[in-house]
Amino acid sequence: MKSLPYFCRGEVIRGFGRGSKELGIPTANFPHSVVDNLPADISTGIYYGWACVANGDVHKMVMSIGWNPYYKNTKKSMETHVIHTFKEDFYGEILSVVMVGYIRPERSYDSLEALIAAINNDIEEAKVNLELPEHLKLREDNFFTSASTSSSALPSTTESTSQTIINGH
Ligand SMILES: Cc1cc2nc3c(=O)[nH]c(=O)nc-3n(C[C@H](O)[C@H](O)[C@H](O)COP(=O)(O)O)c2cc1C
Repeated sequence: MKSLPYFCRGEVIRGFGRGSKELGIPTANFPHSVVDNLPADISTGIYYGWACVANGDVHKMVMSIGWNPYYKNTKKSMETHVIHTFKEDFYGEILSVVMVGYIRPERSYDSLEALIAAINNDIEEAKVNLELPEHLKLREDNFFTSASTSSSALPSTTESTSQTIINGH
């Protein structure tokens, strides 16, 4: 995928709340403005990368893009699971992410347990892959230190260089 690594940020909005309650795997949802701005070559599926809430630390993340076939959603969503235990919810905060790699397509599963097992496999794969030097260096990208507290102050799309925002929204 030529658009990877893909940098974006947006406010965390409420999803259906199933991630925390049913799966035990909380996810932070992006608004439709961020979802609708995805480049055409970023297909639906499961990605891994780095994420930062507001001006906090940068953590590993996994992200699902699509319609959650297990739940048959009607609206496409971008849901990030930050691989870190947070003390509190962070709805309304600005989430900055860089997607660096693709894991698999979204699938429906026969049971909730099978979906949870698949997501846990994704988390393990992300943890290993992100240790590669080319991925580790993105954790230090200026994009994360320039995180804003207001989505209105966010930069518009810019061209790619390693030290500037590639495609922030
Ligand atoms: C790493 C990851 C992989 C996922 N894979 C799938 C999948 O294959 N099929 C699916 O239907 N949903 C998948 N999901 C989406 C979950 O079903 C979704 O996060 C959950 O329903 C919570 O949604 P909510 O925040 O809107 O409540 C995945 C989520 C994550 C974070």
